Amino acid sequence: MSRVKIGIIGCGDMAKVHAAGLVQIEEAEITALCDTSNDRLEAIKKLLPQATPAVYSDYRELLLDKNVDAVLVALPNFLHLEVGLAAFEHGKHILMEKPMGRNTEECDALICMAEEKGLVLQSGMLLRYAPVYKAIEEHLAMPGAGEPSIAWVNEFRANFPHKWRYSQSLTGGALVEKCCHHFDLFNWWVGELPESVMATGGQNVIKNRQPYHVYCPPTEEFEIDDATIIDHAAVSINYPGGAKANLLLSLHLDFDASADGYEAGLVTTTGKRLVTNGQHLTAYGFGDAKHAVEIDTGQGKDLPLLGEDREFVQSILLGRKPFTDGKVGRDSVRVGELAELSIAKGGEKIPF
Ligand SMILES: NC(=O)c1ccc[n+]([C@@H]2O[C@H](COP(=O)([O-])OP(=O)(O)OC[C@H]3O[C@@H](n4cnc5c(N)ncnc54)[C@H](O)[C@@H]3O)[C@@H](O)[C@H]2O)c1
Repeated sequence: MSRVKIGIIGCGDMAKVHAAGLVQIEEAEITALCDTSNDRLEAIKKLLPQATPAVYSDYRELLLDKNVDAVLVALPNFLHLEVGLAAFEHGKHILMEKPMGRNTEECDALICMAEEKGLVLQSGMLLRYAPVYKAIEEHLAMPGAGEPSIAWVNEFRANFPHKWRYSQSLTGGALVEKCCHHFDLFNWWVGELPESVMATGGQNVIKNRQPYHVYCPPTEEFEIDDATIIDHAAVSINYPGGAKANLLLSLHLDFDASADGYEAGLVTTTGKRLVTNGQHLTAYGFGDAKHAVEIDTGQGKDLPLLGEDREFVQSILLGRKPFTDGKVGRDSVRVGELAELSIAKGGEKIPF
């Protein structure tokens, strides 16, 4: 195989960003699209003026298409397991959007099937491909950088888009749905899996059985009264080597905070400090007291997904495991799942 023929299942917001990346990859071709919404299909087709993909409304039909080697699954979380298992059954490699599943059990079932069939399973942990996080990794590899001792993420954001995201059962919970990215950063930076997870959280503002006007800048607005996810949380993770990681989440800023609502960072055992807002990186103690690290943002906004999509295509062509394989996706979901469990148990410490 010299070119990977890709079908996209679920042509919503995330699929459109992937499509913009995939068309830039010479060894990839988008040969099929599937969505239950015609509007979504029409919108993504506009991004692919050079392509003539087959179009399906039923994913099972796309999976029968011999002109598809691999699928990007960009469906709501509750469909990841069902569609993933069916795709493997039909011999298709999978790039599964995050979270890979709603819980560890779903992730393990996908990993097991990928191994049984000898197919690529990549999880959508796109931050690992983003220039600013690559720069953090490079700093941690510098002589004398030390090991992460404390790591943190503060994510104070506007409301989630999409009604399905407010359902605990459809998503696995806000800490699985949103924070799996950040739990993966912690696992990656520390280089170990957690020993235990503790969390507190709940519904302060977006409450079940109370009308709430969702405002997700710049475009989405709708009413809900059945939110079952938490709207804020504080998560504390212990690693066996002694490192600690903390995450604060809040989902109810009423303006577009974008990068201003977000901060991630770490302090190392040799006293260095790295802090990012997701776009810029400041390094403390790396040769001087403080400096702004120059980040090569290359081709801009699409770059994280371009890197992720490239990894998927190359893993298929070279027959190797991707950098963010199923296990990486699973471990990030596991932390979120245990944090949700800890909240349900009043902040109990849950072993990993
Ligand atoms: N990596 C990231 O940073 C990131 C960011 C946003 C979303 N995501 C993930 O991507 C996935 C999709 O999220 P989104 O924001 O694109 O959501 P979305 O609601 O915009 O898109 C989902 C699409 O799936 C379609 N769909 C639903 N049921 C279907 C079915 N049975 N068959 C075919 N199509 C169906 C919907 O019509 C919709 O177009 C989610 O798992 C989400 O968590 C990842």
